[in-house]
Amino acid sequence: MQEWEQEQPIIIEGGKGPYLIDTLGRKYLDGVSSLWVNLHGHRHPTLDRAARTQLNRIAHSTFLGLTNPPAILLARALVRLAPRGLTRVFYSDDGSTAVEVALKMAVQYWQQRTPRLGEKNTFVHIQLAYHGDTVGAMSVGGTGLFQDHFRSLCFPSLAAAAPYCYRCPLNLTYPACEMACVEPVERIFKERHREIAGLVVEPLVQAVAGMITAPPGYLAKLRELCTRYDVLLIADEVATGFGRTGRMFACEHEGVRPDLMALSKSLTAGYLPLGVTLATEDIYQAFLGDYGEWKTFFHGHSYTGNPLGCAVALASLEIFQKERRLQGMQAGVRLLRQLLKSASRLSHVGDIRQRGYMIGIELVEDRHTKTPYPLTDRMGHRVAMEALKRGLIIRPIGNVVTLLPPLVTPPSDLTRMVKIVYDAIFAATEDRDVRAQAPLHHPRTRNAAARRQPGRRTRRSP
Ligand SMILES: Cc1ncc(COP(=O)(O)O)c(C=O)c1O
Repeated sequence: MQEWEQEQPIIIEGGKGPYLIDTLGRKYLDGVSSLWVNLHGHRHPTLDRAARTQLNRIAHSTFLGLTNPPAILLARALVRLAPRGLTRVFYSDDGSTAVEVALKMAVQYWQQRTPRLGEKNTFVHIQLAYHGDTVGAMSVGGTGLFQDHFRSLCFPSLAAAAPYCYRCPLNLTYPACEMACVEPVERIFKERHREIAGLVVEPLVQAVAGMITAPPGYLAKLRELCTRYDVLLIADEVATGFGRTGRMFACEHEGVRPDLMALSKSLTAGYLPLGVTLATEDIYQAFLGDYGEWKTFFHGHSYTGNPLGCAVALASLEIFQKERRLQGMQAGVRLLRQLLKSASRLSHVGDIRQRGYMIGIELVEDRHTKTPYPLTDRMGHRVAMEALKRGLIIRPIGNVVTLLPPLVTPPSDLTRMVKIVYDAIFAATEDRDVRAQAPLHHPRTRNAAARRQPGRRTRRSP
């Protein structure tokens, strides 16, 4: 904060397609989809119209004992799209609350379904996971920085190794490891399944951890274990949902049907805050009973089922169909994969991870030893600043440069984004090497150092 106070803030007042425009009229490519929410570009006419049409009817009415047409239609549409078995919809406000709802629902579900078997109220999570900043979501998270100050507020949760192949926590190598990282989950389940309510997982990509991509079959294996040990599988698709991985939901890649699924972010294509927790019929039924049994799920928010958000979310789902978004983005996925190959040649790029339109580039001080840059070097931030100078907004996560373009980004802009990322990494890391060899205050030596790398930047540019 202290450093940010010294900077000139960029004030965004407009946008169009994959571009953001600031108060000085400068245009930037939105390389993070406005924090992983935007899908169809800014100011999409269909979405703008949906919001305006709903405004002409009503902006909000409570969901307590009432409902509204957009919320009804959206619930129906989501059930049709979601992995089979998820038939019930609970609205909330954002990703964190969608996860909170899933956790609370899981605990109450077990109380009401198997009351005689004792409390099943413990959760298992995957190390490095991020599920939100509210206290329950933090409790099942594994990203130190976001939780460290609040450990004393969090409830205990059991952590299993992350499927982080580049820095395997078990010191193994994929695929020879045969996915040994699922073994800790099985071990925990075997010992403690009687008290475990659910396993919380980010399907396929641990996003905030630095776009850590799980090996194929990992998620399906977790599903199998949950079924075998009578543990609910809670899929947090807040970041991966709505096309980001190349399918509507990441679970589809492995034909996985979770018991609870949290959605938010791109639910409204980046227009309005809205969260949803989908549940199976079995879970829903456990909440039905006579009045005096108090089986109701006592949870709600002032803006639950907000008609504006639901109307825009519905319009977004229509755009998916009308503009054949999932089909159209496949060429973009391939193009990105192709373009990223050039970045893998940069000497400070340790690992490039891609799932659909979710990309993480892990920077390292030393590629051979995988030595990370000290976090105080703020290398990811430096790259983001270099990218900003070149007209691209990206946000790093520590040493990981992330790129998540809106799904609608045309090939020319995808190419520009990757080129800027390449140049920005080069400028922040390799130019720095050159400067380190030849301090800036000695121009002749610096030139000599630069001559030792003739035409490097242009030759390697994608
Ligand atoms: C996987 C995942 N779950 C939950 C959240 C929390 O969502 P929100 O910021 O909308 O509360 C995030 C946010 O980045 C996320 O990536």
